[in-house]
Amino acid sequence: MDNYKIRIAGRKRLSGTIIVSGAKNASLPELAATILADSEVLLKGVPNVEDVNTMFNALERIGATGNFDHNKVNINLSNIKEPVVSETISKTSRSSILILGPLLARNGYARVSLPGGCAIGDRKIDFHLEGLKRMGAEINVEDGYISARSKRLKGADYTFPGVSVTGTENLIMASTLADGETILRNCAVEPEITDLITFLESMGADITGQGTDTIRISGKDILSGTSHTVIPDRIEMGTYVIAACLRGDNIVVKNCIPEYIGSLLKILELMGVEITIIKDEISIKVPGRLKPVEVNTDPYPGFPTDLQAQLTTLLTQVDGVSHIRENIFNNRFKHVIELNKMGANIAINGNIAEIKGISGLKGAYLNATDLRASASLVLGALIAEGETYIDNAYQLFRGYEDMPGKLNKIGADISAMKV
Ligand code: EPU
Repeated sequence: MDNYKIRIAGRKRLSGTIIVSGAKNASLPELAATILADSEVLLKGVPNVEDVNTMFNALERIGATGNFDHNKVNINLSNIKEPVVSETISKTSRSSILILGPLLARNGYARVSLPGGCAIGDRKIDFHLEGLKRMGAEINVEDGYISARSKRLKGADYTFPGVSVTGTENLIMASTLADGETILRNCAVEPEITDLITFLESMGADITGQGTDTIRISGKDILSGTSHTVIPDRIEMGTYVIAACLRGDNIVVKNCIPEYIGSLLKILELMGVEITIIKDEISIKVPGRLKPVEVNTDPYPGFPTDLQAQLTTLLTQVDGVSHIRENIFNNRFKHVIELNKMGANIAINGNIAEIKGISGLKGAYLNATDLRASASLVLGALIAEGETYIDNAYQLFRGYEDMPGKLNKIGADISAMKV
């Protein structure tokens, strides 16, 4: 993957409309789910981001034909040629694990490289593997690969020991082609899972319990092609709403489903932000000094871990001491070192970040350690005095469609250089 360095000149006046793209974390499982269909699928509103490109390439290697252009994916996986996800793919994006369930269910055999280390902490996949075993799969983990085999998966009753987004998605997908009924309990209820279920139903799957933590799936022999539009990306939505809080009153964030970021909007209101919602548009007014808050990250509908870093940047501009407790991942504070280089005053104690404001941020040379960390650094750079340079900026392009272009359109000064 190409790498980039980003330069941002801070403190520009921003004003205008930012349009939110389709959700990366809905597109990824939905692309993986096309393995379950015996004919062509059309997915619309797919964001042009690196993680999606990686998933598309992985499916091409398995045997997919089609193309990904202008946010549309045409894909046909009627022929599985090589049921393998290589190390090169899994190293680039952990979401390749989403291929395991559908590929095993469709093909009776799947070999998927173990997802590699991760910058945000331990990201285990034991629930994925245990659930598939309960459905009758024989699973071996050897030489960095998961090999899974089962002539036909059997319906099972599985309770997730903890809430997992991709775990829930993997087992739902696998169950759609299993023999009999599967009941999955203690499922994650993120909007991306609900969208995946809507998509699977349009392919012919029989699923009940959408939006609840107990999902029942009656297996079919095969699913068929369909057309589906991906929901808007709630993390991109939240990131730009936070940008609006940082940079003034004239930014409108459009193509939103505001309830998806209800937890963020509630926190912003507690801080004193005035929020106006008209249809799919969110606009922000910051009437005066913002108040500190206490925030916990939690599974949906709680405050998302994927907005923790961006909220941290905003809290550096709040008068007083705020705390964020990270409850999902055990090492997701790498942005803090970088924000402190800009002049922030943030201390980490276990899984709690203590943010003391108000800090006047200054441009600096920074390193993007992961996707959401890189977004928090861009937000910091927008309000910093002087220029900021961010290395390893490919991290940003893994999950944000054209963030420099979208922000430049409303007045920012950001350039990305290939390195
Ligand atoms: N966990 C286990 N065992 C498992 C699965 C998860 O112990 O088998 C633990 C993890 O170690 C973690 C917690 O459960 O502590 C939650 O992990 P989860 O499985 O929910 O995360 P994920 O499915 O790997 C998805 C998103 C992440 C997002 C998390 C939490 C996708 C492709 N990824 O990851 O998105 O942070 O849910 O909401 O949907 C991002 O977009 O930047 C991103 C990291």
